[in-house]
Amino acid sequence: MNRPIRIALTKGRLEEKSVSMFEQLGYDCSSVRNKGRKLILPIPEANLEVVLAKAADVATYVENGVCDLGILGKDTILEMGGTFYEVADLGFGRCRFALAVPQGMDFYAGYHTRCIASKYVNVTKSVFERKNMDVKIVKIEGSVELAPILGLSDAIVDIVETGTTLRENGLMVAEYLTEVSARLIVNIASLKLHKAEIEPLINQIEAFINREGKRDGACKS
Ligand code: PRP
Repeated sequence: MNRPIRIALTKGRLEEKSVSMFEQLGYDCSSVRNKGRKLILPIPEANLEVVLAKAADVATYVENGVCDLGILGKDTILEMGGTFYEVADLGFGRCRFALAVPQGMDFYAGYHTRCIASKYVNVTKSVFERKNMDVKIVKIEGSVELAPILGLSDAIVDIVETGTTLRENGLMVAEYLTEVSARLIVNIASLKLHKAEIEPLINQIEAFINREGKRDGACKS
């Protein structure tokens, strides 16, 4: 094999739990823990390399085969689509898509065309297509809660975990949508070409998820 098996992890909210899962599986992740500004971190004794990237880039790297495996949220998979195998629900990073509005607002009152701000324009589009409701969608890159506060939109579609961000910004959930969590994805060609290395790793991760699930009686977020 020319290079180590490469796994792309999502920086930020899923990073700690992903790294901790690998540590609990017995991998020495000290290079990841002490990464500084480095973005490719080797785990030499396991012939693994960890890449840290934004969720959407994790999907792109795995789809294009420059990373063999990836961990990212189902929210990004639903938004981006992508050609890869989604092999496991890791149980952590659980949150829900929600339609949120300013406190006290009745989203469905009146007849005007609603404006919805979201980072997830495709998810938002399909939510309102299912409702057969015509809406205007505005793409916002982050801190989407600002859009209704500033008067740009009537509502937002976003992921909600604890609900703190909504609460602290005078917003409330009007409707919960799909539940999402961290997923393990694999490049289609890698799974064939590097089956001997990748399959045991997937099995190890699946056994870990089952153990965690049994220990807690449910998947942990
Ligand atoms: C996400 C999401 C909300 C927040 C919800 O943002 O977009 O803003 O987390 O979490 P809570 O319900 O626990 O408050 P994230 O922190 O991923 O950053 P972003 O706004 O830059 O996308």
